[in-house]
Amino acid sequence: MGRSWRSTAASIQAIWAIMLVLGVLLISTRTTVEGRKARILESLEYSAISCRGHSASITDYGGVGDGKASNTKAFQNAVNDLSQYGSHGGALLIVPAGKWLTGSFNLTSHFTLFLHKDAVLLASQDINEWPVIDPLPSYGRGRDAVGGRYISFIFGTNLTDVVITGDNGTIDGQGALWWQLFHKKKLKYTRPYLIEILHSDNIQISNLTLMNSPAWTVHPVYSRSPDGNKNVSKCSNIIVQGLTILAPVTSPNTDGINPDSCTGTRIQDCYIVSGDDCVAVKSGWDEYGIAYGMPTKQLVIRRLTCISPYSATIALGSEMSGGIQDVRAEDIVAINTESGVRIKTGVGRGGYVKDIYVRGMSLHTMKWAFWITGNYGNHPDTHYDPKAVPAIQNINYMNVVAENVSMAARLEGISGDPFTGICISNATIGLAKKAKKVPWTCTDIEGKTSGVTPPPCGLLPDQGPEKIGMCNFPPESLPIDAVELKKCSYTATKHI
Ligand SMILES: *[C@@H]1O[C@H](CO)[C@@H](O)[C@H](O)[C@H]1NC(C)=O
Ligand SMILES: *[C@@H]1O[C@H](CO)[C@@H](O)[C@H](O)[C@H]1NC(C)=O
Ligand SMILES: *[C@@H]1O[C@H](CO)[C@@H](O)[C@H](O)[C@H]1NC(C)=O
Ligand SMILES: *[C@@H]1O[C@H](CO)[C@@H](O)[C@H](O)[C@H]1NC(C)=O
Ligand SMILES: *[C@@H]1O[C@H](CO)[C@@H](O)[C@H](O)[C@H]1NC(C)=O
Ligand SMILES: *[C@@H]1O[C@H](CO)[C@@H](O)[C@H](O)[C@H]1NC(C)=O
Ligand SMILES: *[C@@H]1O[C@H](CO)[C@@H](O)[C@H](O)[C@H]1NC(C)=O
Repeated sequence: MGRSWRSTAASIQAIWAIMLVLGVLLISTRTTVEGRKARILESLEYSAISCRGHSASITDYGGVGDGKASNTKAFQNAVNDLSQYGSHGGALLIVPAGKWLTGSFNLTSHFTLFLHKDAVLLASQDINEWPVIDPLPSYGRGRDAVGGRYISFIFGTNLTDVVITGDNGTIDGQGALWWQLFHKKKLKYTRPYLIEILHSDNIQISNLTLMNSPAWTVHPVYSRSPDGNKNVSKCSNIIVQGLTILAPVTSPNTDGINPDSCTGTRIQDCYIVSGDDCVAVKSGWDEYGIAYGMPTKQLVIRRLTCISPYSATIALGSEMSGGIQDVRAEDIVAINTESGVRIKTGVGRGGYVKDIYVRGMSLHTMKWAFWITGNYGNHPDTHYDPKAVPAIQNINYMNVVAENVSMAARLEGISGDPFTGICISNATIGLAKKAKKVPWTCTDIEGKTSGVTPPPCGLLPDQGPEKIGMCNFPPESLPIDAVELKKCSYTATKHI
């Protein structure tokens, strides 16, 4: 029995009423032509950077949501087929309630993948369903092993206008298999990521639960400007919002969201529990990252809640060789997490981390409220340049409240390469009962503080309480904040 899905989808802010009328006409027209009645099965509304003209269900491509049948071909065929609508209004692929086991599949431009709230995509446990692709040029090799890497579960490259969203549907990477191979040192190639999108612009990943990634969970990398230039001057519009990301806190390298060599990224309203950094901002590794030379810039992170006992709430680095500049983090909550907004770098990295603005952090049960590391090792090979030292400048933290913290701060620059312009103001760090005796340790850094307790180290002289508002946070907003989502709607009908 063929089920047929029909849809009405469009930007509707002003023409909602017209759309309703059209929808009714469409249904009644079909009733007359085919002499059958059409019943509305489902209708949904969602917010997206673009709405779509065409829609289909994975069941139209032979998908079976029983958790056992392989849907790899169904997803690959669906995307291939729907790519034909790219220049005709784009396409929406709906995944209904059910458990959909599948191998990796690629995305296409002008495309939306929508997961019903009870839809679960389950990543295949058959390693043959994970083709090996080239390492990222800015890393020179895979992170787990020299050479190539297994393709990500959901993968896209050289795309524009892609939405992965849902009514809080789930993508489960079933990563335990990969974590075991990693621990047993039996990986031939680097583990897959859950979602990776390369060389693309206008990307939205929203309103989903992402769990148990084999390694990093969301990895936008080499975002390009819409004119295709690698030297991104325009905002490339990467939007990540409303995600719940879950992985066991002991699972290896299950970072939450890793913007990597991207300009113009907005991460907001995300809740992340993970075995590694909740957000890790990156831009390539040592000599490979320096040569590729593509920074991460204009990144906004707001309303993030993080639980990560062995890692950072937000890490800048450790791979930062293409540079990281203009990161604005606001309203950050961390619970039982190792550190707050941490910088990780070292000799050989080169690059820079500059113009970092953090405003409003609420930290509960932490090892360090502030942690900056200038001796992070971990090189891709022995060919890194020992003269390539990073420039760390203009790092601002304000309005921080922390409780049950073992040590207020551990701030370590590089000898002969001090980290400068560190500003901390209005920060109240409540120490744990078993706190370290010395709450601050500072070496090779320069900066200032105001309104900070417990009293900071001598390298960050107190400017007095009247300077409590002195650290910077730019008043003007970034272009990425001007991107608005449209209301899209979709109606499925069934002939009866
Ligand atoms: C995500 O869900 C929330 C709550 O249901 C809704 O308000 C919001 O518009 C959705 N956002 C996106 C980007 O779909
Ligand atoms: C997905 O894209 C990658 C990289 O371009 C390619 O190697 C792979 O064959 C593609 N997979 C499919 C199923 O088309
Ligand atoms: C994707 O874009 C990158 C950067 O512009 C380019 O080097 C590469 O050749 C493109 N790949 C494909 C498959 O078009
Ligand atoms: C989405 O689902 C997750 C996992 O079940 C849940 O923890 C979270 O609260 C849900 N989010 C929303 C916005 O409903
Ligand atoms: C990138 O663009 C900026 C601004 O247009 C320019 O100043 C800079 O020299 C360019 N860098 C490269 C490597 O082309
Ligand atoms: C200091 O930080 C707290 C907590 O974020 C905030 O409520 C308060 O308004 C800040 N005070 C000043 C003077 O900015
Ligand atoms: C304080 O932190 C310790 C770990 O350092 C933890 O065991 C304890 O439960 C925390 N106490 C509170 C009140 O959160």
